[in-house]
Amino acid sequence: MRKRSIIQMVLVGALAGAAVAVVAYFIPWLPDAASEEATSIDRLYWFVTIVCIAIFSLVAAVTIYSVWKFRAPPDDNEDGSPIHGHTGLEIVWTAVPAALVTAISIVSAIVLIGVEDAPAGSRKVDVSAQQFAWSFSYPGTNVTSGQLVLEVDKAVQLTLTSKDVIHSFWVPEFRMKQDAVPGTATHVVITPTKVGTYEVICTELCGLGHSVMRSQAVVLGPADYEKWLSKQKSGGAAAGGGGSDGKGKDAAFVRTSIVDPDAELAPGFQPGIMPKTFGDQLSDEQLDALVKYLLDSTKGG
Ligand code: CUA
Repeated sequence: MRKRSIIQMVLVGALAGAAVAVVAYFIPWLPDAASEEATSIDRLYWFVTIVCIAIFSLVAAVTIYSVWKFRAPPDDNEDGSPIHGHTGLEIVWTAVPAALVTAISIVSAIVLIGVEDAPAGSRKVDVSAQQFAWSFSYPGTNVTSGQLVLEVDKAVQLTLTSKDVIHSFWVPEFRMKQDAVPGTATHVVITPTKVGTYEVICTELCGLGHSVMRSQAVVLGPADYEKWLSKQKSGGAAAGGGGSDGKGKDAAFVRTSIVDPDAELAPGFQPGIMPKTFGDQLSDEQLDALVKYLLDSTKGG
């Protein structure tokens, strides 16, 4: 009788677990996976999630079944009969979770080593974070861009630094996330697999503008990527950190950016962030000096 109850409970738990796992798997919880790393991270995610669903369903089924099946009748005021425990059951419910946790650790370690490994010949991009913007420079060239432009199916190793506080680089479709820390360099490898434009998000609370510290990751086909890079090399040299649109950084532009910051926005920057009152607060001489200082101090990138 007791054996039948146990088999029934386990069966109900297994069925409930399978049903929930199927429903969970077919609901699109996650953004599109657009990198090789995302594919293996998603595989790990589903492995862990399905193990958790199975255990949860089993425990919930046993609990609900027991509450229903072994409830006391309304007129029963006696203590339950004493029991001794069940050594076999105790061994099973210790050994199975131990095996599962070990399996999760091993699979996670394999995935982690895989996604952190930069394949030989990986491209390199230096990522600089500051309150509240991203800038991406391409070593060996004079190219600095406000957008992260990548070539599809080419592994790239990002080296991240920060000019002020801790930020964190995240593109949900790439799944990879890495802190940008002042005073040190951190790395993350991404192999984009789908042409498209994705959002770069700062995912470390870094100040008032944290929620708007966003940029784009643009994944291009090989020909478009080469075209973009050579266009940047020829046109973007004078732009310094002024974005990827090739807009010259002349004095008039700098002055406008101070007194009317929303007039011309570099890609990746949102309107309404910078105060519009500097035109009233500063005299013409002060503005001239500030523009001159900014131009001089950014010379040569
Ligand atoms: Cu930078 Cu949040």
